[in-house]
Amino acid sequence: MFNFSSKLPNVGQTIFTTISAKATACGALNLGQGFPDFDGDEFLKQRVTHYIEEGFNQYAPMTGVQSLRESISTYFNKKYSLKINPDTEVTVTSGATEALTASILAFVKEGDEVIIFDPSYDSYAPSIELAGGVAIRLNLVGENFSIPFKKLEESLSDKTRMIIINSPHNPTGSSLGEADWKRIATLIAERNILILSDEVYEGIYFNEGNHFNPRKLEAIRDSLISVYSFGKSCHMTGWKVGYFIASENLSYEVRKLHQYITFSTFTPAQMALADYLGEKMDNFLELGEFYKKKCNFLVEGLKESRFKVLKPSSTYFCLLDYSEISSLSDVDFCMKLIEEHSIAAIPISVFYENAPKDQRIIRLCFAKNQETLERALEILNTI
Ligand SMILES: Cc1ncc(COP(=O)(O)O)c(C=O)c1O
Repeated sequence: MFNFSSKLPNVGQTIFTTISAKATACGALNLGQGFPDFDGDEFLKQRVTHYIEEGFNQYAPMTGVQSLRESISTYFNKKYSLKINPDTEVTVTSGATEALTASILAFVKEGDEVIIFDPSYDSYAPSIELAGGVAIRLNLVGENFSIPFKKLEESLSDKTRMIIINSPHNPTGSSLGEADWKRIATLIAERNILILSDEVYEGIYFNEGNHFNPRKLEAIRDSLISVYSFGKSCHMTGWKVGYFIASENLSYEVRKLHQYITFSTFTPAQMALADYLGEKMDNFLELGEFYKKKCNFLVEGLKESRFKVLKPSSTYFCLLDYSEISSLSDVDFCMKLIEEHSIAAIPISVFYENAPKDQRIIRLCFAKNQETLERALEILNTI
């Protein structure tokens, strides 16, 4: 028998798998799963079929199909007034997850510290561990799940190599503004620290204007790797196409990893996405409006319920505080929701190393069709 010690001893089956399996077994409505229950644009499906039939079925260039990198650059110029070089600063990856992992593996060495903020997306900590680094986990604070700036400052040392920021934020739906980013820029000035900015929900922002893109700040641009996902912006999470934007020298280093992890990403999807972004850019620019309607429908519909709704400013997630309803832990409460009320949600404690003991909050995903949302409101309003 092969003897081994796990490189990721603390990683097991995720709660997402457990909840989804239980939801399926109980025939429950699933608002736990963090992805749409509707399809992406017909145009995209036609274009990908077209490219498959036209024979575009061999390896794409390592950095991504030229037309897609150019469309991304045009999008950034139009939406954020940012000039991005499509050849040296944009790299297409197999989902945002690959870009995140490749960036961490490229720059984090044995003993380096990486600061992440809990609740945090579940891929960060294992990737840091694989790189030999140490995740320093700080809890976001207050009703708005804000960065604990004092603690952040106290946590910085010569060992700090990277800070991972996720804005717009999964699971809380909070987002960082310009002032927050300026504070971060001040904190890392004169220090050798990289910012890995997970912006997969950049298109889903509900306030005036756009999500604040930290690349707008010259002070941190050269220390910034920005990560995005077409899965989120095109309602096609199963296609696993994402990309990262970074300065030429940072891109060069991360591309070395990407070259040997996947080398390149599914060619027909890249070509279809280039056409989609080129011809239907408004769909990207109006994504916030699209999800705002779903968000408002859910939030308004829960006004009379016993849940306290923590209205998100972004993403397709909404948090519900159930402390008036039950004193069960959030994991137990979610199990009860499936068993007794036939609805699945995600307990947010699973996104933490040390969740606040008295926190009673669950996450719902509202990237669902109208019928699913109506059914969810019917159920939640009886609890
Ligand atoms: C915060 C965050 N980052 C990254 C990802 C991964 O994106 P992708 O599916 O493009 O790999 C997700 C997906 O849920 C996410 O919520």
